[in-house]
Amino acid sequence: MYDLHAHLLPGLDDGPKAMDEAVEMARVAAQHGTKAILATPHMKDVNERSSVQHARDVLAELAKNTKATGIELSFFMGMENHLVPDLSAMFASGRALPINGSRYALVELPFFERPNYLEATLFQLQLQGITPVLAHPERIECVQKDAELLVAFVQRGMLSQITAGSLVGHFGADVRRFTEELLQRGLAHVMASDCHHASGPRSPKLTAGVAAATKLVGAEMAQAMVVDTPKAILENQTVKIGTPQSAGKKRKWWSLGR
Ligand SMILES: [Fe+2]
Repeated sequence: MYDLHAHLLPGLDDGPKAMDEAVEMARVAAQHGTKAILATPHMKDVNERSSVQHARDVLAELAKNTKATGIELSFFMGMENHLVPDLSAMFASGRALPINGSRYALVELPFFERPNYLEATLFQLQLQGITPVLAHPERIECVQKDAELLVAFVQRGMLSQITAGSLVGHFGADVRRFTEELLQRGLAHVMASDCHHASGPRSPKLTAGVAAATKLVGAEMAQAMVVDTPKAILENQTVKIGTPQSAGKKRKWWSLGR
């Protein structure tokens, strides 16, 4: 499997504090079937507390230390780029990073607000040749309130990355149900761990999420989310996705449940 969202660089963000925990995360990932993992430290932390070059150096050290312990795992460099008005300029100057140097970039929308520059910033990235892969939309309030927003983004060529833990209830029952809905409506293209630690709900294990997705949409689609599609993204290939389904009518349970 290919994991495109992982906070595993020690000391870089809210992921592991030390190198030995990072190596342990690599061991857990490999043990549970992950063969390639993308380091995605938070853009803000990298630029404010260290640098992109330092992040690359730490990744190289992690890869070396992991290999020395006999663990087979390939590492790639990326970033979790949160939406800011000047994100386009951040990419142009190299302070925001795409996925392994490809045309794809992991972009995180604000959790609790819908800024007036949301659409314009995403479309600006597309004009720049960058395809946003929207990080865990199931946990983003403006998408929870209006899934049609995600439908519109996907129709405009963006991709969506759900988090494995969302499907097994690590972020609550409402998020789990909403993630299932996104899957069934063709609004989830990649499943990643968004791991922060070696164990617990933010571990690098993808297996439980894959099992839950398999029950819901079948093995072929579940495998595509952790193998075919993330592999194509990592290799800068064209990604084939189905047409997303609009909801027939507005969901009621979400507003009632909050
Ligand atoms: Fe993340």
